[in-house]
Amino acid sequence: MSAISTTAAKTETDQYAVIGNPIEHSKSPEIHARFAAQTQQNLQYDRLPAPLDGFLATVQGFVRSGGKGLNVTVPFKLEAYALATTLTERARAAGAVNTLKFDGGNMLGDNTDGVGLVTDIVRNAGIAIANKSVLLLGAGGAARGVILPLLGEQPARLVVANRTHAKALDLARRFSAQPRLKVCELAELEDTFDIVINATAASLASEVPPISPRVFGAQTLAYDMMYGKEPTAFMRFAKQHGAIARDGLGMLVEQAAESFYLWRGVRPETAAVFAELRERL
Ligand code: ATR
Repeated sequence: MSAISTTAAKTETDQYAVIGNPIEHSKSPEIHARFAAQTQQNLQYDRLPAPLDGFLATVQGFVRSGGKGLNVTVPFKLEAYALATTLTERARAAGAVNTLKFDGGNMLGDNTDGVGLVTDIVRNAGIAIANKSVLLLGAGGAARGVILPLLGEQPARLVVANRTHAKALDLARRFSAQPRLKVCELAELEDTFDIVINATAASLASEVPPISPRVFGAQTLAYDMMYGKEPTAFMRFAKQHGAIARDGLGMLVEQAAESFYLWRGVRPETAAVFAELRERL
């Protein structure tokens, strides 16, 4: 009689990755390695490069090799949305997926960007969104991904403004059942807002969206979803006009924590990971 027991299945390391193009500069592997160590989860998290026309084949290969989940970044968030067999409500509202979870034949698509932004503002910066007036600059994927979670905080109003006004109108149409959501031409912004969020790609070109400095007051939080070693052009502009400026590094860490929670059912602590990352920028 032989009594051979194997624990191989229990000790196997689960595989995760971030897929994008380019992907070399992604900080996600650093973040998730820290989360895994802190919560004692047995997982490995890598960078997964994919050719621009090879998203599907790369994902399929990853799943075949036993991969359990992916973060999805530029330019594949729409393809991930189309690929998912099940979508969370926030992914459906965003029209984009930044997190995939593979479970048998099921591919769950989620979007954790919006909750990452909200958590960074409300919990980390300590600034409530409820009953505040919020201005969201931009109407691309980044803006669309955060609208529902921002509205979920019950702001007094959420105004969307974009360089190409027609795109802001299109975006607002997707959320037409939301009475607190308004659209305004960039050039016509005159009010002062409590929170101004830059979801445009302007910072990538060291530019500032053409807005009146009147949107900023002494207590305004000016939040740039981009981050870098130095403050962005938007942050510098906002600060010059009296606002409190914050970059998107906290959002990056918080969206990662939410993905980690979706995959592992464990919520990592983010403060120390954020501080380390800031130091290493
Ligand atoms: P993402 O998925 O990152 O949102 P995107 O869909 O290409 O990328 O959208 C980029 C957003 O940044 C758009 O809202 C764009 O405005 P337009 O719709 O007018 O193109 C905005 N944007 C990019 N560069 C900008 C700049 N220099 N000033 C103001 N807005 C800018």
